[in-house]
Amino acid sequence: MKNRPRQFPMTSKETVVELISAEKIQQRVGKLGKLISSDFASTERLIVICVLKGAFMFTADLVRSIEVPCHIEFIQASSYGNGIQSSGKVCITGTIDVTGHDILVVEDIIDTGLTISRISHEFLNCNPASLKICTLLEKPAARKHPVTIDYLGFTVPNRFIVGYGIDYAGKYRQLPFLGILE
Ligand code: IMP
Ligand code: MG
Repeated sequence: MKNRPRQFPMTSKETVVELISAEKIQQRVGKLGKLISSDFASTERLIVICVLKGAFMFTADLVRSIEVPCHIEFIQASSYGNGIQSSGKVCITGTIDVTGHDILVVEDIIDTGLTISRISHEFLNCNPASLKICTLLEKPAARKHPVTIDYLGFTVPNRFIVGYGIDYAGKYRQLPFLGILE
């Protein structure tokens, strides 16, 4: 018999239902790190670019299992504001000189694909040697902008996800697991 998912009542109105456990996340992130290490074994100019804020925890774990030399940089992209619907506008801040470097952009969730398309477009204008995309989660059902994902943690249903760095109105980032906000 299947266990019922664990439920965490967080406020009087909000409950987080566990979707992916901390253990499963760690296993998957370790595998992605190994794969990235072997794919980038022949380069010494890798820049891992964390898309703040949602990807901070994922990036911190991922780089600890990347065994090739790399630089770690940060940009901030925001589209959600405090709601659960994308605003349709993406604001990107941060400057990184990527010209001639192999870059790996690390995202938390690819939903409609708008944010990562905008980020990729901005970086490709600066002539990196290569650009690859790594995302912890993707929601294929919501895709409006086509995106090639090179490294994927998990595919998730079209629900609002929190935990492991990912927030709702600034809350729940500290959870070590991923859950559905209800
Ligand atoms: P996109 O531009 O529609 O692909 O949305 C991507 C961004 O929206 C992600 O980087 C997240 O920051 C945010 N986002 C999308 N889905 C969720 C969710 O389920 N929970 C929290 N943030 C989300
Ligand atoms: Mg994000």
